Amino acid sequence: MKILGISAHYHDAAAALLVDGAPVAAVQEERLSRRKNDAGFPMGAIEYCLDQAKLEPEALDAVVFYERPMLKFDRILTTLLRNFPRSRTAFPHAMKNSLGEKVWVRGIITSRLGVPGRRILFTEHHQSHAAAAFLTADCDEAAILTADGVGEWATLTTGRGARKAGGGATIALDREIRFPHSLGMLYSTFTAWLGFAVNEGEYKVMGLAAYGRPAMADAVRKLIPRTADGAFRLDLDYFEVQSTARRSFSDRFVDLFGPARSRYEPIDLATETGRHYADVAASVQAVLEDILVDLARDLQRRTGLRDLAFGGGVALNGVANARILRESGFERLHVPSAPGDAGCALGAALFADQVHFGNPAPAFPAHAFFGPAVDGDDLARIAGEDGFNVDRIDDARMIAETAEDLHAGRIVAWMEGRCEYGPRALGHRSILAAPHDAEMRDRLNRDIKYREEFRPFAPVVPAELADVYFDLPAGAAPLGKFMAGVFPVRPEWRERLAAVTHVDGTARVQTLERDFAPRLYDLLQAYGRLSGLPILLNTSLNLAGEPIVCTAAEGYSTFRRSGIDLIVAEGVRVRKRGRATAPARRQEEMA
Ligand SMILES: [Fe+2]
Repeated sequence: MKILGISAHYHDAAAALLVDGAPVAAVQEERLSRRKNDAGFPMGAIEYCLDQAKLEPEALDAVVFYERPMLKFDRILTTLLRNFPRSRTAFPHAMKNSLGEKVWVRGIITSRLGVPGRRILFTEHHQSHAAAAFLTADCDEAAILTADGVGEWATLTTGRGARKAGGGATIALDREIRFPHSLGMLYSTFTAWLGFAVNEGEYKVMGLAAYGRPAMADAVRKLIPRTADGAFRLDLDYFEVQSTARRSFSDRFVDLFGPARSRYEPIDLATETGRHYADVAASVQAVLEDILVDLARDLQRRTGLRDLAFGGGVALNGVANARILRESGFERLHVPSAPGDAGCALGAALFADQVHFGNPAPAFPAHAFFGPAVDGDDLARIAGEDGFNVDRIDDARMIAETAEDLHAGRIVAWMEGRCEYGPRALGHRSILAAPHDAEMRDRLNRDIKYREEFRPFAPVVPAELADVYFDLPAGAAPLGKFMAGVFPVRPEWRERLAAVTHVDGTARVQTLERDFAPRLYDLLQAYGRLSGLPILLNTSLNLAGEPIVCTAAEGYSTFRRSGIDLIVAEGVRVRKRGRATAPARRQEEMA
């Protein structure tokens, strides 16, 4: 069967296509439209998916939307009416979003794609998250946990998934926590209070948390009392989630934690105010982790299963993921490359294919490269027209010489193959650099990413060597594959990995199997022979505020507008002229 999954109209739209169970294509609309977190109907992503399979829309057996618009509309309307007249300012906003786009999704899909209404299916939002997590995992049976801000009504679900012997799968979500009680919204409220953009700045809260102490954890617990059954609710006196589109925390929240930070006010950790922000971040992070660990532990006890598949935007919290793995009793934790709403396009398609239709499916590929491929000839042509010298060299030479460039302190834009599905660059649209000195981190922040961040950059290491440098618990491999876990850097290596080690001694490490990205793997080994450490700094190839690049032209533009020294794509290399060579790094002893 040919099944197209779509997520849209809330945050980070995407499309994904399955043909006979296999993911032929999946891409976020932002990568094509170049509008970060583009939530519009993902026509570009859909066209890419259909082109990739050489299909016309009429050939699709089903188009699956990632949530039930009427159920969501019901929630929005119910919430607003319950809070009228306090909610009067939110009402026009919600009506515009919901009536205009969400409710009439079937009509939009029919008119935009020409697919008859009877072929359009809807999954529940958390079924999509659950399917994205479980049906991409390398296991036949798993407990399932999903947690996000909100879908229709559910904000957190637990259950289990199993593959059937004759093909197809079951996903049973038997418990749920409903709006407005939401871990995602708790975290987002602190994100907003800390002056970061909601749905985008949550990772900054997690990063900032490492600078603070959870001194305010008891205050945070007042906001989220636990219930007798082990779950939680939000004390709505501290929130404005129900009634306003403008601010999510209430005056009582401000009484407890102080005035919100203005986004223009820098966080200076040398001041009392700056330390307070860090302490509040550490406190909400600690409470989030405690609750997730409790829920996961209870789920492990109830199911007796060894594997946990975790989906939803909360699963992007790599620090919490590491604690769940260590403390919940599960032996392995699976988080997909796209656990957030963009990944629901794939999740919705997988759910329809294997659960609804009961189709058999091949093993899900152990990578995340389902987007458009980069064209090295495009890079050569554009750079040539721009007056640059273009080198065309074979793989072996490219790997050897790029390792030398990196060892000499140069910063490399590294593009190959198809782009990543999900928010992380995993080696196909990456900026690579030497991981040793804090100066490199500062240079990347200053000359390329133009950001002042609380997260350091992430390291990538060959999977079989990861234990040498990082303290990975057993069962961490599925997390390391997609950079979904934050783990300690072993103390003896922290100084030599200063550019990728956070203030608390941790790193969001990517553990790389050779099959996943063979050229990058070989580059790591070549770099290890030169430097003594087969580890590189890997950050996404984009400038601040822009989506990760997709095409050679976008990669080249990023290279030209920033302090990147050279760009490499599919056997083509372009260097900036006239840049001084950084001093050679000292030879590290072989690990
Ligand atoms: Fe979601």
